[in-house]
Amino acid sequence: MSSMFLPPPIQQINSAIADHANVDLYVLRLDLIHPWVNGNKWFKLKYNLLEAKQKNCPTLLTFGGAYSNHIYATAAAGNLFGFRTVGVIRGEERLPLNPTLSFAVQQGMQLVYLNRETYRQRHTIAVCEDLRQCFGEVFIIPEGGCNLNGVRGCTEIIDTAAFDTICVACGTATTLAGITLSLHQGQRVIAFPVLKNGSFLAQEIDSLLRNYLASGLPAPTEPGAWEMVCDYHFGGYAKVNDELLRFSQQFRQAHGIPLDYVYTAKMFYGVMDLLQQGFFAQSDRQRHRLLLVHTGGLQGNVGMEARL
Ligand SMILES: Cc1ncc(COP(=O)(O)O)c(C=O)c1O
Repeated sequence: MSSMFLPPPIQQINSAIADHANVDLYVLRLDLIHPWVNGNKWFKLKYNLLEAKQKNCPTLLTFGGAYSNHIYATAAAGNLFGFRTVGVIRGEERLPLNPTLSFAVQQGMQLVYLNRETYRQRHTIAVCEDLRQCFGEVFIIPEGGCNLNGVRGCTEIIDTAAFDTICVACGTATTLAGITLSLHQGQRVIAFPVLKNGSFLAQEIDSLLRNYLASGLPAPTEPGAWEMVCDYHFGGYAKVNDELLRFSQQFRQAHGIPLDYVYTAKMFYGVMDLLQQGFFAQSDRQRHRLLLVHTGGLQGNVGMEARL
């Protein structure tokens, strides 16, 4: 399976702000590993797909909003690896379909819509049974790929001790949990939640880590050190303002790296702001090696730009 994906390049960023802060700045370009199944998505899907194959389950069923990166990637991954796919979408159907859902349908995904109230109940046995009644034998992947298979895949994102700090945008915290489980001695990971009041995620992270370790699934290391910086949500999930849009544009012009507005732009903005505040200063005066994980999500910019 993994042979379909390119190894992610690590790109050094020349930045006067970073230089002044005595920091070497790098970006892990997970956005470049595949045209459609890229970013953290492949890592979250990989072991879900392998389990579905092992169980001879012909159909993947998953959940998401109408602009979801996860729906987009699951549709493409299902098509690549020979699964039928069903996307359960939050809210009413809107025609014409937006670019995310049009792509999913082109990849063969069957869409079904749940009103917001029923969607909130998607974890319950009753709703899952209804879906099984409709679609037969399905392998259910939770929204955002947030399960232990998702965490397991994310333990494979970083395999180097060459960095002091790793920064990642955070939604469900699956990616953060996987990276935390693969840190080397002395490394730490910083999560930038894109939701308002993201500090509630601390409990989620603890429970993801606890459940993962209790599951007996392979963990490359003992969990490393993680922190959260909650000040760069820009008003909440999928909220943007002119400053963020300007920042993304300037960053792309300066470094040739496109950012998505929902996740990576907020994290990159936060990091550049923290650099100016001396947040990453090291006591031993060595240069700090900082790696930003580009988790993809660029497909969402098309729909977002149409709504701005
Ligand atoms: C592009 C992108 N970056 C970051 C994240 C956050 O990942 P997680 O939900 O694992 O915290 C997501 C959501 O899956 C995403 O689509």
